Amino acid sequence: MTPPIATETYTEPTQYTTLKLRGTATEVPAAVLAARAAAARAPEPSVTATKPAPSQQPDYPYQRYLPAFPKEEHFDPLVPFTHSDPGFRALAVSPNPEVPLPVLQGAESVTEITPELGSEVRGVDLTKLTSEERDQIALFTARRGVVVFRNQGNFINAGGEAWLEWGRHFGRLHVHPTSGHPEGIPHIHLVYRDGESTFNYERSDRTTSLVWHTDVSYELQPPGLTTLFLLSSPDSGGDTLYASQVASLRHLSPTFVSFLRTLKAVHSGVEQANFSRSGKRGGVVRREPVEHVHPVVRRHPVTGEEALYVNSQFTTRIEGLKKEESDNLLNFLFDHVGKGGDFQARIKWAPNTVVLWDNRVCVHTPVVDFGPSGQRRHGCRITPQAERPIAAWEGLELSDKSLI
Ligand SMILES: [Fe+2]
Repeated sequence: MTPPIATETYTEPTQYTTLKLRGTATEVPAAVLAARAAAARAPEPSVTATKPAPSQQPDYPYQRYLPAFPKEEHFDPLVPFTHSDPGFRALAVSPNPEVPLPVLQGAESVTEITPELGSEVRGVDLTKLTSEERDQIALFTARRGVVVFRNQGNFINAGGEAWLEWGRHFGRLHVHPTSGHPEGIPHIHLVYRDGESTFNYERSDRTTSLVWHTDVSYELQPPGLTTLFLLSSPDSGGDTLYASQVASLRHLSPTFVSFLRTLKAVHSGVEQANFSRSGKRGGVVRREPVEHVHPVVRRHPVTGEEALYVNSQFTTRIEGLKKEESDNLLNFLFDHVGKGGDFQARIKWAPNTVVLWDNRVCVHTPVVDFGPSGQRRHGCRITPQAERPIAAWEGLELSDKSLI
C-alpha cells in the first residue's frame, strides 16, 4: 500500500523506493530520469544550496524536501531580538473576539473543532492574503489555539522560498538545532518517517508514542505562530493531538493556579541534543543545547490570556522546589494535560491541509500509530520565534541567561 501525498494531481508510484539519504546512483534508468524530470517540475526554492539535492527516492515529487543532515553545519547561539507580534497589528481592526475577523468573513466555512480549542477554515487561500489579513489570521490563531486550513494546494506547492516568506511575516525564523531540513533550507524543520527510517524524536521505550510538547521551549524566545503541513501522509493515522494550555489552566482550582503563577521552570534542550548525539535522527547537533527558565504560567501578549507553560518533553524542573516536589508537581501537570480530553483536539491530516497553531498557548504531539503500515509521513514546519514568555504574575523574576 502506498501513501497518498499532498498534491491533487500526483499519483504515488506503485514501486516503493527506500530512502537512502546519501545513496549515489551508479546507473540511471530511463524511468528514473523521467521521474526526476517530473520531480524537477516541483517548485524550486531560490535558497537552495549550491549542491543538488541527493539522488534519493527519485519517484517522489518532494524529494528535494527530504531531510538532510549536513555534517559541516554549525550555528552560533541565538541572540535575543525584539519581536513585533502580528496579532497586535490586527487588534485595531478586530478588538472584539466575538466579531468575525474580516479575513474570514468571505470564507466558505469556519467551524469550531471543540469549544475550547481549534477551528477549521475552508475557502480561504493562504497564498492570496494581504499583509493585514495575515495579521488577522495570527490573531484568530491566538484566540483559537489551532486553526486548520483545508484545500491549501497552492500554499503547499508554492515551495521553499514562499514558505519562508510566509513564516517571516510572523517573526524571526527558527533554525532547529538537530532536526533534518531540506538541502539548503535550514529554516524549514522536517518531520519524516517511512517504513525504513525515522528522523523524528521518537521513544520506543515508552508505553505510548505521545510526547506532549511545545516546540523548542528551551529557547529564550520560543516560537509563536507556527505552520505545519504534510507533503505525504499515511492512509490512516499519523494524526496530531493538541491541547489548550489556556483551558488546562482554567480547569485547575484558583488556589492552585495562584501558586503556579509564583513558579518558574527550567526548559532544557540537552536530552534532545543527546538523542541526536547518540546517532539517532541524523546524528547532527548544529547548535549547542541551551536551558532557559520560563514562568510556569505565561500571559499571551495579544489576547492577555494566561496559559500553563510546562511540557513533558522539555520542562525538567521547577526552580526553588526540592526534587520530589518538582517531580510530583510536573508529573501531575503533565498528566492533567495528557488526559484532558475536555480541552484537546485531534487533527486528522488530509491532502493539502495546513495547520497553524500558537505555540504559546498549546501543547501538541504526533500519534505514531502508522508504523506497521510502512507508509510515509513527511511534513514541513515553519517556526517563527516570538517574545520571551511573559509571566502571568508580574512580580516573577526571571534570568535571561542560559543555564548551561
Ligand atoms: Fe512539535
